[in-house]
Amino acid sequence: MKPHYRILVVDDEPASRLNIKDILADKRFLTDEAEDGRRALQRISENPYDLVLLDIRMPKMDGLTALKEIVKKKPDLPVLVFTAYGSSAKAIEAMKLGAFDYITKPFDIDELLETVKRAVRHKELTEEVSALRGRLAGIEGLDFQPEQLISKSPAMQNVFKMIGKVARSDATVLLQGETGTGKELVANALWHHSTRRSAPFIKVNCAAIPDGLMESELFGHERGAFTGAELQRKGRFELADKGTLFLDEVAEMSPALQSKFLRVLEQGEFHRVGGKDTIQVDVRVIAATNKNLEAEVREGRFRRDLYFRLQVMQIEIPPLRERKEDIPLLVDHFLKKYGGKRTLYATKEVYQQLKDYPWPGNVRELENVIQRATVLAQGKYVTPEHIALAPMMSGIQVPIPTTSSPYALREILAKVEREVILKALEVSKWNRTKTAALLKIDRRVLFSKIKEYGLKK
Ligand SMILES: Nc1ncnc2c1ncn2[C@@H]1O[C@H](COP(=O)(O)OP(=O)(O)OP(=O)(O)O)[C@@H](O)[C@H]1O
Ligand SMILES: [Mg+2]
Repeated sequence: MKPHYRILVVDDEPASRLNIKDILADKRFLTDEAEDGRRALQRISENPYDLVLLDIRMPKMDGLTALKEIVKKKPDLPVLVFTAYGSSAKAIEAMKLGAFDYITKPFDIDELLETVKRAVRHKELTEEVSALRGRLAGIEGLDFQPEQLISKSPAMQNVFKMIGKVARSDATVLLQGETGTGKELVANALWHHSTRRSAPFIKVNCAAIPDGLMESELFGHERGAFTGAELQRKGRFELADKGTLFLDEVAEMSPALQSKFLRVLEQGEFHRVGGKDTIQVDVRVIAATNKNLEAEVREGRFRRDLYFRLQVMQIEIPPLRERKEDIPLLVDHFLKKYGGKRTLYATKEVYQQLKDYPWPGNVRELENVIQRATVLAQGKYVTPEHIALAPMMSGIQVPIPTTSSPYALREILAKVEREVILKALEVSKWNRTKTAALLKIDRRVLFSKIKEYGLKK
């Protein structure tokens, strides 16, 4: 609890102000006065009040107009409104505008004291919560070790350099990479190395939130904006003010939302759903996608102008199969992470198998495989029995089609077929009957394939 609370009493009648001051004559309450709405707003902009007591019926700027302004300028400052007995319309109006509560005049002294205490306590709790949140963000920031991004490959060193280069600017960053390559870790690192690391890092996964709710999730809504919107709610953009917003799976945004999002990026302002007021925010945006956004633009699923806006600062995170030198490092890292008190070692065969595998699920898949192995391994060693790789993939390097790839699908399939038959022949020591059985094909088909591909011992 604070040693004292600062309260502003706004009433046009001096006698009335004096009366309230007397009632609040407790050393914990420091009162201040204003005789009309305009004066009140001026005082509020100059002093850190904990509560405003506001009379509705006043000359010059009336109470409701003043209330509207106060709520806009200081949304966290509770306002207690006095209404004349019987004027429920005004009371309801005041509550709608965001008053903390109202009291009808003439009032009961105890009721006033009770409500005042409740209001300042409420303010204090709100402050505590936001302070805790800030501290938590700070602690998470400290806890975060940039080294957690394990890698020694040149491809990833470039990513680290890019992180270093763009982290301290406020520019929007686009992270592209297949699923499980570490986009979220990179986003975290960008935040951690930015000037905004003590401000919030807010995440939104565009794929996880239904289309209809996304707008209010991002921009918030006013009370009554739609069925179920019983309270005003701040959106993620507003919560991220002064901080960083991580928009994951940005390709999943609906076209309507894409254009709203573009406007926010360009102007730094928006409206809550159902609201008229323009809300300004200072937010750094990091967007991520595992799709090829350029292709999404070509197919007409993603707005070109938004893509251009996002791709100015772009970081491509390479798939694991293009940086196999990271695999042993990651294996050791995950063995330590999941091994608990045991010190676990992977055998040479394990490293080899893991290096031969193409990792369609990238680092996440590797992490899962190792985690499972640490559970299965009884002794000190992780051996091939503890490793379960998706069978269709093991041993075959599946080519990923790119725009520069010269092969047609049929040629790729033929290459794969050739490899598989060759492996099967080797495994069954060139016994054709066994090989055909292994591949579940007819012996005659096998003979013709061996001829077609010119396979020899
Ligand atoms: N270089 C790395 N070093 C250590 N751990 C990593 C690394 N890259 C990824 N990981 C781990 O792999 C998992 C997947 O990473 P992350 O969630 O960042 O991937 P993503 O690219 O966001 O995937 P998706 O597109 O599926 O959301 C996480 O548990 C993360 O900690
Ligand atoms: Mg992710």
